[in-house]
Amino acid sequence: MKRKLIILTDPGQDQAAAILMILGAPEEFDVIGLVATAGNIGLDHTIRNCLKLLELAERTDIPVYSGCPRPILRDLVMAEHVHGPTGLDGPDLPEPVTKPAAEHGVEFLIRTLRESPTGQITICSLSPLTNLAMALVQAPDIAPRIKEIVAMAGAYFEVGNITPTAEFNVYVDPEAADIVFRSGIPLTLLPLDVTHQMLTTPDRLSAMRGIQNRCGVAVAEMLEFSQEFDLEKYGWDGAPLHGPCVPAFLLRPELFEGRLASVVVETGSPLTMGMTVADWWNITDRPKNAFYVRDGDPEAYYRLLQECLVRLP
Ligand code: RIB
Repeated sequence: MKRKLIILTDPGQDQAAAILMILGAPEEFDVIGLVATAGNIGLDHTIRNCLKLLELAERTDIPVYSGCPRPILRDLVMAEHVHGPTGLDGPDLPEPVTKPAAEHGVEFLIRTLRESPTGQITICSLSPLTNLAMALVQAPDIAPRIKEIVAMAGAYFEVGNITPTAEFNVYVDPEAADIVFRSGIPLTLLPLDVTHQMLTTPDRLSAMRGIQNRCGVAVAEMLEFSQEFDLEKYGWDGAPLHGPCVPAFLLRPELFEGRLASVVVETGSPLTMGMTVADWWNITDRPKNAFYVRDGDPEAYYRLLQECLVRLP
């Protein structure tokens, strides 16, 4: 039985790789729609980038919905310094000829979850959680209808990337993350603790370029662009590849290790805003609201990504 997915995304080269990975496993995933989110770059760019990616993969049958243009409470913080002015710098992808759906992304989430049988839809979140949180506030009845949320979000042992304590997706909209983390919906987090083990080394990058289809070459060109910031910042032999950890977990959970734990978002302190406090050692009696992934198998991860990308145009 295929897993029905709604993808929340603000592409972002790493998220482009994740979306293409999902499209490279059509026997596993039925993608109902993409909800473009304001995050790495402004909403106009993330909408355009979603459309570009679906056209690149010849999957314009999948609708793109425009989400909220900013976080629930805060001004939008973006990451052009990593992803470039368009968010998808690297390859020279043509301007999209397709358009987003007329329906707002929040309404799409509510309508689709109400129309679908309970427990059938997985939320694959690669972005800030603004639109899912807005849907949960507007229509609390959808919460029990969601099968699970698998999200690239948070950091604890690896600490933060956009601040010393916060991971970008949570930092951009900490109130949204707090709403989702407290929703009671089954939640799996792929935090920086595990994504920082998944380094796109030169060998792995050349293997992607060696795929010799336009999607593989485009991903290699995207990551060759976005890696520059992280290589300079961390001095590692590769940049962390965050987004594809979500589809990789959905496809092969046995490649990852984690545990049920309480994970709470800081929404008050200016110093630690957006920090995700994981009670890994079960010190408190806070509810264990998330499966927190701390480790993964990088070799198997990149083999899996490769296996998916080779199947694309
Ligand atoms: O913190 C890393 C995550 O934030 C990545 O998914 C990147 O695309 C940004 O959204």
